[in-house]
Amino acid sequence: MEFRDLDPKLEPKLTELYRLHKERASNIDWGYHDFLPWDKAQDFRRVPWDESQVTLPPALVTAVETALLTEVNLPWFTSYLHSTFKGSLSVIIDFIHTWTAEEDQHSNLLETYLLITRNVDPNRLHQLRKMVVEGGFEPDFSTPIESMAYTTLQELATMVFYNNVAKVAGPYDKDLATLLRRLAKDETLHYAFYRDVVKAHLELDPNYITEVANVVINFQMPGAVMPDFEDRMSIIAKEANYGPLQYFDQVLDVVVDYWEIRDLQPTHPEAIEAKEQILKYHGRLLRVKERFSRK
Ligand SMILES: [Fe+2]
Ligand SMILES: [Fe+2]
Repeated sequence: MEFRDLDPKLEPKLTELYRLHKERASNIDWGYHDFLPWDKAQDFRRVPWDESQVTLPPALVTAVETALLTEVNLPWFTSYLHSTFKGSLSVIIDFIHTWTAEEDQHSNLLETYLLITRNVDPNRLHQLRKMVVEGGFEPDFSTPIESMAYTTLQELATMVFYNNVAKVAGPYDKDLATLLRRLAKDETLHYAFYRDVVKAHLELDPNYITEVANVVINFQMPGAVMPDFEDRMSIIAKEANYGPLQYFDQVLDVVVDYWEIRDLQPTHPEAIEAKEQILKYHGRLLRVKERFSRK
């Protein structure tokens, strides 16, 4: 399979998508200081942390901590995207800078929330954070279109995750629900940008489906470097409203529709096969979901 970069013919379109993103983002600009319950803060030297101070159910703590440990790897996401798009269209490099600046306050918000509300052992959290960032992260996908498809799924999955966990969090702590919804809004705009870059390429040449299929079929959330990632995800699926069922309904199904994969008419044999593979994969997850819902 030949390596294909973003198509320079789409530069005006991508420039317009970036302009739109800047406009939407400036309409919802925010600072994380506005979303934290500062009145609850106490000096850890005067009042040391103790397990009895935890107020949230364990599954919610796991969900917020897992989100934090994903967001802290931003330096590695940025370097991954930056090296993938080096020498590509300059508008994409500009977007990566804007995107990084927006993502940059996500981990601060989640971490400061956990520290102020004392829902985690601060020393354990510090060690975990260091360990995760030291481990770094790099997705398995290396071509520009694969990276765009990967970030599309990841941003949408993150948005859904925040909104779904916010629903569970509401009855325990309104501040937490509000800040999670706030993060979800940022992820929505990121998702829209990446999603539309992929869409523009598929419209220009449906054979790009080959690269998209590789990502869709092999997508995993970026958590492998986190200790107990599988356990965390199964707790969150059972008790915090985000698991394989939500992934199918609110992520996979949504992008398969939006990219109009069923109606694409690729011409390369490889791309025709790739389209079939996505639809087969989608069908398989749909049957799993239906079986599960009947139970
Ligand atoms: Fe984020
Ligand atoms: Fe994001």
